[in-house]
This record gives sequence, structure tokens and C-alpha cells, in this order.
Amino acid sequence: TRALILVGGYGTRLRPLTLTTPKPLVEFANKPILLHQIEALVAAGVRQVILAVSYRAEQMEERLKEEALKLGVDLIFSHETEPLGTAGPLALAKETLNASPDPFFVLNSDVICEFPFQQLLEFHRNHGKEGTIVVTKVKEPSKYGVVLYDDVGCIQNFIEKPQEFVSNKINAGIYIFNPSVLNRIEVKPTSIEKEVFPVMAKEKELYALDLTGFWMDIGQPKDFLTGMCLYLDSLRRNHPEKLSTGTGINGDVLVDASAKIGSGCAIGPNVTVGPNVVIEDGVCIKNSTILEGAIIKSHSYLESCIVGWRSTVGRWVRLEGTTVLGEDVIVKDEIYINGGQVLPHKSIAASVPDPQIIM
Ligand code: GDD
Ligand code: MG
Repeated sequence: TRALILVGGYGTRLRPLTLTTPKPLVEFANKPILLHQIEALVAAGVRQVILAVSYRAEQMEERLKEEALKLGVDLIFSHETEPLGTAGPLALAKETLNASPDPFFVLNSDVICEFPFQQLLEFHRNHGKEGTIVVTKVKEPSKYGVVLYDDVGCIQNFIEKPQEFVSNKINAGIYIFNPSVLNRIEVKPTSIEKEVFPVMAKEKELYALDLTGFWMDIGQPKDFLTGMCLYLDSLRRNHPEKLSTGTGINGDVLVDASAKIGSGCAIGPNVTVGPNVVIEDGVCIKNSTILEGAIIKSHSYLESCIVGWRSTVGRWVRLEGTTVLGEDVIVKDEIYINGGQVLPHKSIAASVPDPQIIM
């Protein structure tokens, strides 16, 4: 089987991280988001993955080539000369997708869950129609595509980002289609959510499969951190041996083997610490992601934040309120930042008590 992952889009909502790294390569729980997906696809028997890219393709190719080799999966880069939206890329990759009559998977590159690919394939085969989309329940459906379907899963209507409440069941960004779906799409900017799904629904060719377990679109810092909590919780239940334990570690925490943690620290709950990170003595970190090569100096307090690659947080610093440091940021000693989004390569020498973008 084969799959196509939509990895275009500028990732603007995940700035400042995406100013130096494309969104699909940002490490979520110490692994690029895209790799979580590719690994799950491979586990479900997928041997060919098409990455539909519209920008920064080289960086992705470089980062993923080796990993693909290790996983034994064939990675095909499908380059767009202009962003083709969420449907156009399928038409662009028509030849590869049409190469076999079997159905293929399509997914948004920024969703994380316990991917139900096997179950999706079975459900799809059983109802025999053109497409199936995975559906999940959320509290704030207006940010997503809302799905209305009957008790056997046949979708009656699909409404992308509705202004008014219709339902809390939404499109999880994970699909399976028969190749015939390609007859509906042309190589031009097209939204699958607005232009394709409503038509398929009307023709009763689109079904919904309810997702069990957690789900999150991690394309915004706040959701990224919430998604990390949910992911670690699912790891606790399914692979507890992968989580870190020991003095100074509280609750669900994932620490890369190459990271160094000083004495008298309180790390957790819900923290991931990337490769080569150095955390000095007496540091307290909760609900946060510390990316590769960052240094957190002694006696700092970090809550609900993302520290970018190779950034340095000084001593007695306090970061909170979904503060995001881009790559290679320096925060001087004794600084307080609340909800700041700090652009890459900046040095912060004055406190930022209110949420803002720091350039
Ligand atoms: N190749 C390519 N080209 N990919 C694109 C393009 C493009 O022009 N535009 C967006 N994408 C990719 C994004 O990288 C992302 O993986 C996916 O398409 C969806 O785009 P988002 O910008 O993340 O959309 P969204 O989060 O607002 O809404 C979508 O996802 C929700 C679930 O997270 C929709 O599919 C909703 O219906 C859905 O509920
Ligand atoms: Mg998204």
C-alpha cells in the first residue's frame, strides 16, 4: 500500500519554531512529527510514502532520507511549484497513486494520535464506497472540519470551520480513498475540505470512522503542548518502559539518553527533553518541550513552554504562559517571560511580562 502526506503549508501558527525548521520536522516527543506518522504507516504495511511538499523540500529530503532507508520505506517527494491546497497535491501525484487499484492513505502532517490505519483499511473495505475519513470529538469544533454522519458512518455533510455550532465531531485529518477519487480533482489549488468532501458526502461516497483514544492537531504551540501531554499519557499506558524514571523525575517525562540533568531538579510532569540538552542544578520544568542542544542554567523555572534548538536559558529565569523560544535564543539571568514568542537568534535582556512576539 501507499500513502500521501500533506506537508505543505507554511506552519505560521507554529512560529517561531517554523522560521528555521519546517513544521513536519519539528520534534514532537523527541521525534519529527512526520516520523511518528511514517513509522505508523510502515507498521500498517505501507511501503511507499509520497510527501506532498510546497516549500523547503531540500531540508526535508536531507533529514528524512536516512530514516526512510532504515524503515525500509520508499519516500517520494512530490514538489509543487505553487501551493495546491489539500486536494491539488493528490492530482499532482496521480501517476503514483493510480499505479495500483488498491486504496491509499492521505494525512495531514500535523496530527498526532494512535494511528488506526489497519482498522481504517478494514472499515473502508467493508463499506465499499470511495472514501473514509477518521473522525474525533473536540471541545472547540469551529477550528476544524465538522462531520455529520449517520449511525453506520455514512457522511451526510462536511462543513469546514463552521461559524455556528453543528456538531463536535470533526475531521481528524486522516483519510483512505479509492483511486477513483482522483477523477474529482485537478492539478490546481483546491481544498479537499471545501470542494471535494461536500460533493462526496452528497453522493454518499464518504464514510466516517470514529477514532478511539487521544487526538491532537499540534500545529499551534498550545495544542503542541497539550498533544505532548496526551501522547506521553498514551505512552505510559502502552510502552511505560520508554518513559524516564529516577530522582527528580515526576510523572510522564521523556528524556533523550544524551541529555544531562543536574542535581536537585524537578522535571515533570509532562516534559520532553531532547538530545544533548543540558539542564543544570535545581531547575524545575513542567508541561514543556526542550529541543535538541538547549541549555537551561541553574535554578530556573519553566512551565508550559517550548525551548528551541540550541537556545540558552540563564539562571533564575522564569518562563511560562506558552512561551516559545525559537532556535538559538539567549535569555539572560533573572529574566521573566510570560507568553513570549521569541524569534530565532535573539538575546533577551529585559523581562516580558505580557504575551507578545519578540523580534
Ligand atoms: N502540499 C501541500 N500544499 N500541503 C498543504 C497545503 C498546500 O498548499 N496547504 C496545507 N497543506 C497541509 C498542511 O501542511 C497540513 O498538513 C494539512 O495540509 C492541513 O492544513 P492546515 O493548515 O494544518 O489545516 P487546518 O489544521 O486548519 O485544518 C485541517 O486539519 C484539521 C484537523 O487538524 C482540515 O483538514 C480540517 O478539516 C481538519 O479538521
Ligand atoms: Mg492543522
